[in-house]
Amino acid sequence: MNIAVVGMGYVGLTAGTCLAESGNQVVGVDVDREKIAKLNQGELPIYEPGLSELMENNLRSGRLEFSTDLVRAIHTSQIIFIAVGTPQGPDDLPMIDQVETIARQVVEQMPDYRLIVIKSTVPVGTTVRLEKELSLLTETPFDIASNPEFMKEGYAVEDFLRPDRVIIGSENPRVIAVLEELYLPFVRNGKPIIVMDPTSSEMTKYAANAMLSTKISFINELANLCDRMGGDIDLVRRGICSDSRIGYQFLYPGLGFGGSCFPKDLAALSKMAKLAGYPAPLLNAVLEVNRVQKQSLQRKICDYYGDDLRNKIFAIWGVTFKPRTDDIRESPALGLVADLLAAGARVRVSDPRGMDNLRKVFGNRVGYCVNMYDALAGADGLCLVTEWNEFRNPDYKKMLELMRKAVIFDGRNVYNPIKTRSRGFDYFGIGRK
Ligand SMILES: NC(=O)c1ccc[n+]([C@@H]2O[C@H](COP(=O)([O-])OP(=O)(O)OC[C@H]3O[C@@H](n4cnc5c(N)ncnc54)[C@H](O)[C@@H]3O)[C@@H](O)[C@H]2O)c1
Repeated sequence: MNIAVVGMGYVGLTAGTCLAESGNQVVGVDVDREKIAKLNQGELPIYEPGLSELMENNLRSGRLEFSTDLVRAIHTSQIIFIAVGTPQGPDDLPMIDQVETIARQVVEQMPDYRLIVIKSTVPVGTTVRLEKELSLLTETPFDIASNPEFMKEGYAVEDFLRPDRVIIGSENPRVIAVLEELYLPFVRNGKPIIVMDPTSSEMTKYAANAMLSTKISFINELANLCDRMGGDIDLVRRGICSDSRIGYQFLYPGLGFGGSCFPKDLAALSKMAKLAGYPAPLLNAVLEVNRVQKQSLQRKICDYYGDDLRNKIFAIWGVTFKPRTDDIRESPALGLVADLLAAGARVRVSDPRGMDNLRKVFGNRVGYCVNMYDALAGADGLCLVTEWNEFRNPDYKKMLELMRKAVIFDGRNVYNPIKTRSRGFDYFGIGRK
């Protein structure tokens, strides 16, 4: 099939590349000329494991190309996926003006029938509303479907090639047949393609992110109880997660959830609920627990050193919102760095992939260390923010030699408290008093 994917971010670039990998002819479209130029040279503008090789293969085979020319893409493609960003707006609802503009352009420019597929996360009811509005603009037949994306950054290629499920939001048999055929190569392992109406499909995306965020805030709330009442959250975690009704996934205590999806999607769902006349107390509590959780290390540092951090130096290991990505959107590191600087401290960071993005936010107000140990020289504390594998088994002897004050604020419970203390460090984790 000839396919256009509009929006070459984490989602669109991965989806487009994987669709080319399964034999389709794909054009990836973006408004960012610099990005498109890089992509056409085989250069990846983001870090996503496994994507570079796949993209190169498909560029070489001629199944994948990149362009800024949306009109040409509309003419040459039967299916147009919309995968542009839908960032949180000032009213907490996602801004979907780009999604709407592209959909409008498709119906205005299409020479004959086209299928528009909305992959971006959009408010519940958008596809049905757009279908009505767009049909007023054209006599030419078209269809529009919802097809939310569930990939995880860091595992996006794996998730797209072998998804847990594919959701098709359409009640039109012709659309369902086309999309089932398109996705069949990715569900040979027996995982389901679930067909539903577009509104349920849009709600499914929000529901999935709300459930996962709720698990994170739940375990963090229990960790906070352990901090105050005693008990070790890691033991409690093992105690509850071994129950098959509960399970282990997404129940890791830490600094809360970040990234471009969970915080934005939860805020959007909460706002949509409010507009629908339902106050959604659970969703709001999940967000509030997360807001406070992201400040955990700041509080522990102030408990240890007091509020005035002038003349103190802090090393931060990990600035991305999770490992295996360069994405720092909504990362707890952003608030931590800002608060430490505001309290007069000096900050040095080390991260395998996220430092270029952090530099765009903090410029030269922060020191950037390619070597993780360089960040520790003369430091009064180490803050572990992102659990990259390379931080898991450090050279403790070297750390003791380098640091002015051997204290670790472990935001991901990566280190063993007893062993770390026996090695000569003061140690503060999450829920491990
Ligand atoms: N990042 C994730 O892990 C993830 C997972 C599932 C769903 N989503 C959703 O998918 C959507 C895309 O997310 P993302 O993280 O890939 O976004 P992103 O910010 O990484 O990329 C968006 C891209 O769209 C391009 N763009 C914006 N307006 C455009 C236009 N008019 N025409 C062409 N290109 C345009 C931008 O230049 C950018 O390259 C969002 O709705 C997001 O909520 C994201």
